[in-house]
Amino acid sequence: MFHFIINSKNYLEASGPKALKLANAIEKATPLARQANVKLYLAAPAFAISELSKTHPKVTIFAQHLDPQGPGSTTGYLVPEVAKMSGARGSLLNHSEHRIPDKEIREGVTALKRLGMQSVVCARDAEEVGRLALFIPTFIAIEPPELIGSGTSVSKARPDLITESKNSLQKVLGDKRSTILLCGAGIVDDVDVRRAKELGAEGILVASGIIKAKNWVGKIRSLALGFSS
Ligand code: G3P
Repeated sequence: MFHFIINSKNYLEASGPKALKLANAIEKATPLARQANVKLYLAAPAFAISELSKTHPKVTIFAQHLDPQGPGSTTGYLVPEVAKMSGARGSLLNHSEHRIPDKEIREGVTALKRLGMQSVVCARDAEEVGRLALFIPTFIAIEPPELIGSGTSVSKARPDLITESKNSLQKVLGDKRSTILLCGAGIVDDVDVRRAKELGAEGILVASGIIKAKNWVGKIRSLALGFSS
């Protein structure tokens, strides 16, 4: 199984009512993605999670960030228990655009595990992959910040980073195949996806390559097929 996370970030093109349009596109692309053994996810803004989980129950919705605070009198934080009640099935943590201290990453992964939710811990380099793998998240995503939004993919520009991250992960986890390596940043076509798979990634995170595309369904399908070649 390969994992394909669409991170809509705070792009206005996919916010408010347009978040429904993106979820529709993911739903339409799902049958073909499934044939390619690819699971699709949408990492949506907190404001959209509850509505999307109701209108699109077949789409796996993740939060883009969660705070380690607990439920109750904790104003303004994105609390894992409330995210779960809102329909989120997991969350990104420590995205390059929303970095948090290691302690909060560890607490976030622990809270998500306790709630039966999935965690996608983001790392900027292979050293960080090795350090954060110790928390045994569901996924670790290697994303070099300088390539995010660049249209030049990590698998083309920094193939070494994927192989080094795979090695870091294996060094920490040994033969326990628990945490899955994903990669992201600059992925725009099926060649980038095929290359990422060849280098050892078992999934991708994509934002602008989809959000900025004219045809979201076509782009999602085309990237998903990159795993099957
Ligand atoms: O979370 C994935 C995202 O950071 C990658 O961004 O625009 O390069 O696909 P983008």
